[in-house]
Amino acid sequence: MYSYFDNAATTPVDKDVLKAMLPYFTSSFGNPSSLYSISLESKKAIDNSRNKISQFLNASKDEIIFTSGGTESDNLALRGSISKQKNHIITSSIEHPAVLSTCKDLEKSGYFVTYLKVDSEGFIDLNQLENSITEKTALVSIMHANNEIGTIEPIEEIGPICRKNNILFHTDAVQSFGKIPIDVKKMNIDLLSASSHKIYGPKGIGLLYVRKGVMLNPIITGGGQEFGIRSGTENVPGIVGFGKAVELASKNMNKENKKLLSLRNRLISFFMKIPHTRLNGPMKKRLPNNINVCFDGVEGEALVMLLDNERIFASTGSACSTRNLNPSHVLKAIGLKPEDSHGSLRLSLGNSNTTKDIEKLEKTLPIIVEKLRRMNPLYEK
Ligand SMILES: Cc1ncc(COP(=O)(O)O)c(C=O)c1O
Repeated sequence: MYSYFDNAATTPVDKDVLKAMLPYFTSSFGNPSSLYSISLESKKAIDNSRNKISQFLNASKDEIIFTSGGTESDNLALRGSISKQKNHIITSSIEHPAVLSTCKDLEKSGYFVTYLKVDSEGFIDLNQLENSITEKTALVSIMHANNEIGTIEPIEEIGPICRKNNILFHTDAVQSFGKIPIDVKKMNIDLLSASSHKIYGPKGIGLLYVRKGVMLNPIITGGGQEFGIRSGTENVPGIVGFGKAVELASKNMNKENKKLLSLRNRLISFFMKIPHTRLNGPMKKRLPNNINVCFDGVEGEALVMLLDNERIFASTGSACSTRNLNPSHVLKAIGLKPEDSHGSLRLSLGNSNTTKDIEKLEKTLPIIVEKLRRMNPLYEK
């Protein structure tokens, strides 16, 4: 058996999700755009999922656009809302690469981007945000919760600032969707990205919430599916699975969060007793499943490999950038020195984690940290 602590990277598909999807690969395989009865089954299944998901966000059915995942949703929000007249985006320096690389690419095409700094816990400064707005600003894109350090940004306060200034507000909610409550109306959100594979749904399916009245330029053109905003034959099994995953998340969120918070807090207290250890990100306003710690004198990659030998799976930095040995841009933005951020370990808990997993980690990790510190000639006790 293994202990999986990398649920922010991806989650296994829930067995009820898989069961709901299976008929749409075989018997109910029709193209939802066709007119005969098996196609109508596919169309109905999409409608049903769209309905469930829209209710979960307090949105309307026609405000949910299915995409291939969080990355595409972020691209559509950013690329679809910028124009020659409104050519400026405000974002933060700790966004996921799906936002940051898109911004860099837009800059190459002559658009302008302001990257807001964050404080030592990863929070943006609302005054700095307000002062960065110009008459050319099209969009503010600030993530709901950070994928590396779990910081939950004050998005309820960002929405009204954007509304007041007639600017669109996009939030990348890939890590928070299905984990903490989101109400797009109450939070004054215009655009929101979410992804299915982070909440026990299949990979390759996500959504962009687009508030009624917001005009987006499509980035994928073709047959006009998804209200003309995202063409391409719909991923029917994926959409069905995503809908089922949302249904389960909605049912289990409160109970699940209580469990995750208690396991998370127990682990954080345990880690903080290991000398020369630092918690990255805040204690309050933090995702209930996220832990990010640095152990002085320890290489994150070595730590992850030695944990792997014990069948404990965790990550250093975020999964999307772990193959790149540059220090994490998030840890750098909260003020860590490169040598410190190399020693970071991210644990993201999920519904498979039990007290047994935690006990195993508590037994194993201090031994590995001690071993790596002994091997490091530069580490001073
Ligand atoms: C905050 C955030 N945004 C976007 C993405 C990309 O989502 P996807 O893997 O569905 O493309 C991720 C994935 O880790 C993420 O954590």
